[in-house]
Amino acid sequence: MKLSGAITILLASTLVITTTTTTDALPTNNNGKIVVPLHTDTRFRPNPSISIRNAQARYSRFLNNPTVSNKIAVDSDRKNLKSQANKGTISLKSIKNDIQYVGKVNVGTPPQELELNFDTGSSDLWFVSTLCKNCDDYNTQFNPNKSTTFDWGTRQEWNIQYGDGSTAGGIVGYDTVDLGGFPIEHQAVELATHETQMDSVVHGILGLGFPELCTIPGTITPLENLVKQGLIKDSMFSFSLGHYLHGGGGELIFGGMNTERYVGDLTSFPVENVEGYWGIRLMSATIGEELISFDEIVPKIPHMNSPMNALNNHNNAKEVNVLPGVLDTGTTLMIFPELIANIIAKKYNATSNDDGTFGITCDSNQLPELILNFGTASYKVLSESLIYYNDNNGNCLAGFAKAKFPFVILGDVFLKNVYTVFDYSVPPTIKLAQAVSPPQYTNNNDF
Ligand SMILES: *[C@@H]1O[C@H](CO)[C@@H](O)[C@H](O)[C@H]1NC(C)=O
Ligand SMILES: *[C@@H]1O[C@H](CO)[C@@H](O)[C@H](O)[C@H]1NC(C)=O
Repeated sequence: MKLSGAITILLASTLVITTTTTTDALPTNNNGKIVVPLHTDTRFRPNPSISIRNAQARYSRFLNNPTVSNKIAVDSDRKNLKSQANKGTISLKSIKNDIQYVGKVNVGTPPQELELNFDTGSSDLWFVSTLCKNCDDYNTQFNPNKSTTFDWGTRQEWNIQYGDGSTAGGIVGYDTVDLGGFPIEHQAVELATHETQMDSVVHGILGLGFPELCTIPGTITPLENLVKQGLIKDSMFSFSLGHYLHGGGGELIFGGMNTERYVGDLTSFPVENVEGYWGIRLMSATIGEELISFDEIVPKIPHMNSPMNALNNHNNAKEVNVLPGVLDTGTTLMIFPELIANIIAKKYNATSNDDGTFGITCDSNQLPELILNFGTASYKVLSESLIYYNDNNGNCLAGFAKAKFPFVILGDVFLKNVYTVFDYSVPPTIKLAQAVSPPQYTNNNDF
């Protein structure tokens, strides 16, 4: 997807509406963890319309009767545990009204520092390089000739074609990729020699989806290598995303989690791994006193018979009428199937624009929270998150949008309100808790 996707970090209010919880005794110490801090760019004008186009491009194949693959190709070999003493935290910064969240990664020897968009909706690791002819806008480009550990391999080529016509491509090499102090050796890295779509604020993307999403089949992803090379003990990563209204920022932790970033307990959900995306089943929404049950609406959604609906890959349940919600840090808004978006919009008196976005009141006091129910637990999307953009001229755009997909894309507008643990052991699970509010990331202005 486009780099104008998103990784933001915000946590909102104080109450959790968890009805059932698991008591996950996950490590809170620093053993085998990497924390990635994330950061906000004030120069920007958000463009939700582009955000929708990006999402449409990213998920366009689901409109064309795709096949769902059932494999979870995550190598969970934990035998060669090298070290449990490393930290793996990366601070994130939110870019452009939380349109994306980026953090620093060191590549090569000696390290070259790159700012990458951490994207749960893709699985490639690519960034601009000195081989690129049209990347002059970038203040930083990875130079493979300056890394003693760089391996050109077979000089395999890679290419990504986006739905909006833009492209990126180049050569695959191998080098050390350091994630918050965890040095992954001989990681496949896709060096861009051309690209027509990146936003020059960010140097590239580090995909955190399942291997099925890799452009080059057979690539071992950084997530897989973290486990394979014994760098982390628990095959998980955790996001907390800040909100630009509260200073932005955020935190990504590899191999662990931060219990101070959420309230209440984490609840565990089976992953509906739809072609490599992180999906969980969404049951209903509550707005004020009103419950919108998706069970009744879902059968009426076009394309609902596509394999996208056969979500329950892990126990072959193949339930009909399941509405998946894809947790995608690389998408900015919450994007609902049209039928559902229209009902939600009506409740908020939001008016449809012709690009899939909605106009909404700029007075968040008039907007009841949106509560999304996932069966065993529910999470609040704060009123302030329902207004994605305010032009300070009386015009506001909603944090929700619509598209013709038979699933919901839970982008950063949702993810800012929860703490998310992505556990890629077999079978994978997602753990959610309501985020602490307001979030505080002192690291936000560090870069
Ligand atoms: C790096 O080295 C290769 C050959 O080994 C060369 O083709 C390329 O132009 C060099 N320069 C840069 C900036 O990558
Ligand atoms: C929507 O408009 C109706 C009628 O004007 C009003 O009663 C209601 O409070 C509004 N709801 C929201 C969320 O703005």
